[in-house]
Formats: sequence, C-alpha cells, structure tokens
Amino acid sequence: MSEEKKQFAELKIGDKSIDLPIVIGTENEKAVDISGLRKTTGYVTLDPSFMNTASCYSSITFVDGEKGILRYRGIPIEELVEKCSFTQVAYLLIHGKLANPEERLKFSKLLNQNSLLHEDMRHFFDHFPRGAHPMHILSTMINALAVFYPNVDLLSLDEDIDLSAARLISTVRTMAAFAYKKNIGEPVVYPRHDLNYCANFLNMMFDSPVKPYDIKPEIVKLLNILLILHADHEQNCSTTAVRTIGSAQVNLYATISAGISALSGPLHGGANQAVVEMLDMIVADGGDVKKFVARAKDKNDTFRLMGFGHRVYKTYDPRAKIIKSECHKLLSTMKNKDPLYEVAMELEQVALHDEYFIERNLYPNVDFYTGIVYRALGIPSNMFTVMFALARLPGWIAHWKEMIGHHTKIVRPRQIYIGKVPADYGK
Ligand code: CMC
Repeated sequence: MSEEKKQFAELKIGDKSIDLPIVIGTENEKAVDISGLRKTTGYVTLDPSFMNTASCYSSITFVDGEKGILRYRGIPIEELVEKCSFTQVAYLLIHGKLANPEERLKFSKLLNQNSLLHEDMRHFFDHFPRGAHPMHILSTMINALAVFYPNVDLLSLDEDIDLSAARLISTVRTMAAFAYKKNIGEPVVYPRHDLNYCANFLNMMFDSPVKPYDIKPEIVKLLNILLILHADHEQNCSTTAVRTIGSAQVNLYATISAGISALSGPLHGGANQAVVEMLDMIVADGGDVKKFVARAKDKNDTFRLMGFGHRVYKTYDPRAKIIKSECHKLLSTMKNKDPLYEVAMELEQVALHDEYFIERNLYPNVDFYTGIVYRALGIPSNMFTVMFALARLPGWIAHWKEMIGHHTKIVRPRQIYIGKVPADYGK
C-alpha cells in the first residue's frame, strides 16, 4: 500500500464537501477509503453484493481479472503447479513464505500426526441418512471438531496455527474419504504415514480389502495440481463468510464449517458438479450444444451455462487454462473416451464465438473442466465440491489468520431500511 503522496477524492453532499483518502495497493489497485464517511456526514454507501467494495487489506492472493493473472503470495499460479506440492502451497498461503526443509519436515510431521479422525467422531458417519450430500456431512463434521478441539490459541498465532492448520487439512481429507466409503458401503481405509498428502487421499478413497489400489505418480501429480488451483482466490463468497464469521471471534473450526456451507452453493463451489450434470443433460438430450447455448441466453429461461462467467475474471480464467490442458493430457491417454469431454469442448467453442458471451466477457471458469478430470480419476460427482473444499482450506485458514492478526472489528454492515415507517399495532 502506497502512503507516499496522499491523494484524496472530493465528495460533495449538498453544500458540504469532504476529502476521502485514496488508497493504492501494491499492484496499483485504487480505492476510496470511506471508513470515516458516516462519522463526518451521516451517510453510508450502498453496494449490494459488494460489487464495488474492498472489504479488507490482504497480502495473500492477487487476482487481475482483466489480464487473467493469479498469484499466491506474489508467486504465479503457473509456477506453483509446476514446482510445488499442495502442502507446500498450503504452508506458503498460511505463512507468507515457502517452508525451508526444516519447516517442511515439521509441517509434514504435524499433518501425519493429525491425520486420524478422533475415534468417537468416526461413529458419526453411521448416523447420517443414506444419500446425504457429502458437503453437508463435511460441514457438520468440521463443526464437531470445534467440540473435540475447543481451544485454538489466539495469543501465539504464528506458532499455534500450524497445529490447527495441520489438523484441519489432514482430518478433513480423512473425513472426505470416510464420507465417500460410507456412501458406497465399503469399510473405511485409514491414512498411512508413508504416503504423501495426495497419495494418501487417493489410497483412502480407492483402496479396498478385495482390490488394493495402485497409486500412480501421474495421478498424484494431477491431484496436487487440482488442489493447488483451488487453494485460494481472495475475497470470494466462502472466504468472505470465513472472515465475517471469524470477526466475531468464533472458533476456527466452526468458522471453516461456515465457509464449507457457503462453498456448497451451485453459483460457487457447487458449480463443478453442476457442470457435469449439465453436460450429462446435453448428452442425454442428443448433444445439440447450440440449443443449450440459446437457452443460456434466453432471459425467460433459468438455465445458465455452468462453468462459464466469473465475478472477477473478464478474460480466460488462468486456472481453467491450466486444467484444460491437464484434462486434455489425461483424457488422450485413456482408452475409453468420455462423451462429456467432447461436448464440453464443443460447448466452449460455440459459446466463445457467440455475441452474447463475447459482449459480457463470459469465459470458462476453473470449474468448467475440473469435473471432467475428477470423473476420469474415479471421483463421483457428489464429491467434486468436497474436493474443492479440501483444496480451499489453506486459503480460508490464511485469511482467518490474517483477519485475526489485523485485529479486525466485528463485521457489521449497515442497511437502507425500506420497510414500513412506524405502523399501528392495530386492535
Ligand atoms: N450463462 C449465461 N449467462 C450468464 C452466465 C452464464 N454462466 N454468467 C453470467 N451471465 C450473464 C448474466 O445473465 C448477466 O447478463 P445481463 O447483463 O444481460 O443481465 C451478465 O452475464 C453478468 O452476469 P452476473 O450474473 O451479473 O455476474 P456475476 O458476477 O453476478 O456472477 C457468476 C458471476 C459466476 C455467479 C455467474 O457468471 C454464473 O452464475 N456462472 C455460472 C455458475 C458458475 O460457473 N460458478 C462458478 C464460479 S468460479 C468458481 C467459484 O468462484 O466458486
């Protein structure tokens, strides 16, 4: 943030004029600081859905939606997917720097030590109704962590955060795999200390007493990429939920559970499942993608092209670029072609050349191809959003830590009341 030459924006309300400070971020984003507005003028600003509001200062993630740039702690996403594992990226997001070998070992040990679910929690899985959505199971289970581990020490945050982060990142992975096994009626597979984070997850998902799972390094690498791509995305809906709820000094686990709930919506993390369902529907309908593009444009039709459009990106989502290329590499090596992939590619081309989508800068977002990749890995569609949640944990934790560190006041927006003025109670 540049403080060198203070600039101001002048605001006139009636015959009164006030100077509002201009704030400039390190990537030259400009904002008008209105934090003193109500005190000096009695006015508030009105910005439904925060389309124009920066809600905080943050040094975690930078997104340039016009140029299609995404960086975690200054490092481009393209470099991170090439050089890092997911847990290294998690450390980077939470601590602001890549771990040195000693720190990496310590974090890895913590992940291993905390990979088991409290045995009493394991029994919870037996009482969810069959067919319960794994995202609802996950948010409930994470909330329960707040009961099993009530103390998250806020005083020595820098040191203690590693334990809470490792517990979340590691146990949530175990919960996710257990939820899946429960759903398909197979015995759960426990985590192993000799496997890295992603290999461990794949093994817990797909190993079975009758057919041992063959862990393939290229699949492990691909899962690392998928998780890294989703690890953070600045002030999105679920992160804003985490920051808002955390500002009331709610326990970290309960706060993350709220993030999971926000993520589950089809306009947010639920989009990857919605994309596959949409592609399935197009294939079942005979595969005429033009018909569905027409429906997406029709204002009288509620159908939208899932996996298209983004509040921030007005160009190709850099994450979508990476995963599209990985999707292509993976599917071209597979014997059985996925009809959804063919339809997705055609749909993308038709939409990208359509005036409606061009005018509104609607491009594929990260979720357009991730579902197809997850399908190819054998992960069922009701687990896609769980995968997103697993990946987003380090981002939520980093934002929670930053928010606590900045001594953020409790989040409490104002409103413009448009209801009845004093009304009679009546007789
Ligand atoms: N299909 C058809 N029209 C669309 C779409 C779409 N997917 N997305 C936006 N539009 C239109 C929208 O109707 C509006 O048109 P008009 O100006 O004529 O009213 C215009 O484009 C602007 O859209 P908006 O809904 O005002 O934009 P937003 O910033 O509020 O919404 C969005 C962003 C992601 C919710 C939206 O693009 C959408 O619903 N996309 C489909 C769901 C999706 O893929 N979500 C995943 C987002 S990426 C992962 C994540 O962050 O969780």
